Amino acid sequence: MKRLFVLILSMMTMMLFTACGETPDNSKSDSSKKVEQQTVPAKSDSKILVAYFSRAGENYQVGVIEKGNTRIVAEMIAETTGADMFEIKTVKPYPESYQECTELAKQELADDIRPEIVGKVEDMSKYDTIFLGYPIWWSDFPMAVYTFLESYDFSGKTIIPFCTSAGDYMTGKEVNIPKFAKGATIREGLGLQGKRCQEEPEAVRQDVKKWLGNLGF
Ligand SMILES: Cc1cc2nc3c(=O)[nH]c(=O)nc-3n(C[C@H](O)[C@H](O)[C@H](O)COP(=O)(O)O)c2cc1C
Repeated sequence: MKRLFVLILSMMTMMLFTACGETPDNSKSDSSKKVEQQTVPAKSDSKILVAYFSRAGENYQVGVIEKGNTRIVAEMIAETTGADMFEIKTVKPYPESYQECTELAKQELADDIRPEIVGKVEDMSKYDTIFLGYPIWWSDFPMAVYTFLESYDFSGKTIIPFCTSAGDYMTGKEVNIPKFAKGATIREGLGLQGKRCQEEPEAVRQDVKKWLGNLGF
C-alpha cells in the first residue's frame, strides 16, 4: 500500500515537471524552455510591445554568444518603456554554426519562405506601438520577420524598427514594412553594430535611450 502511494506520488511529480515544460535531469532543455515561455507577453497594461528576432550561437565578429545582439537591444527598449516582449522564434531553430546559418538564410530568402513561428502575441489589439527588432540577414529581414508581419492586423498601429548588423545602419528595407504589416505606419528606426551589444552594452544603452528620447519615450 505504502509502495503504491510512493509510485503515484512520483508519477504526479513527473507530470508536474512535464506540464511546466521542464525535465529534472536536463539543464540544457531546461533553459531553452524558459526562453520559450518568455515569448508570450505577461499580462500587463502596457500598450507597447517589443517584438524581436535574434539568434544566439556563433555569430559575426563575436564568436559564440549566449544572448543575441538584437535581443540585448530589445531588452533595453522594454526596460526603458515598460513594454511587453515577444520573441519571434522559429519552430525549426537555425544552425549554431554561422556559416551554415548564412547558407540556410540565403536559400530561404531566395525561396521567399515564411518559417513557422513559436506561439502568438496574446492580444495584439491592445498594443498601439510595436518596436520591431531584427538582425540584418543578407541585407534583408530574417524571413520569420515577414511571417510575423503578415500574421496580424496592424491597423492604426505604429511600428518602430531597430536592427543590428555588421555596421550601424538600416538597409532601407524597413520602408517596406507597411506592405507586409497591413495598416501599420512606421517611425524612424535605429541601426546598431551588433558586436557593440556584446562589447560595450552600456554605451549601446545610452544610444538606445537617446533614440527613444527623440521619439518621445
Ligand atoms: C544569416 C546571416 C546573414 C547576415 N547578413 C548580414 C548582412 O547582409 N549585412 C550585415 O551587415 N550583417 C549581416 N549579418 C550579421 C548580423 O546582422 C549581425 O551579426 C547581427 O548583429 C546579429 O544579430 P543577432 O545576434 O540578434 O542575431 C548576417 C548574419 C547572419 C547570421
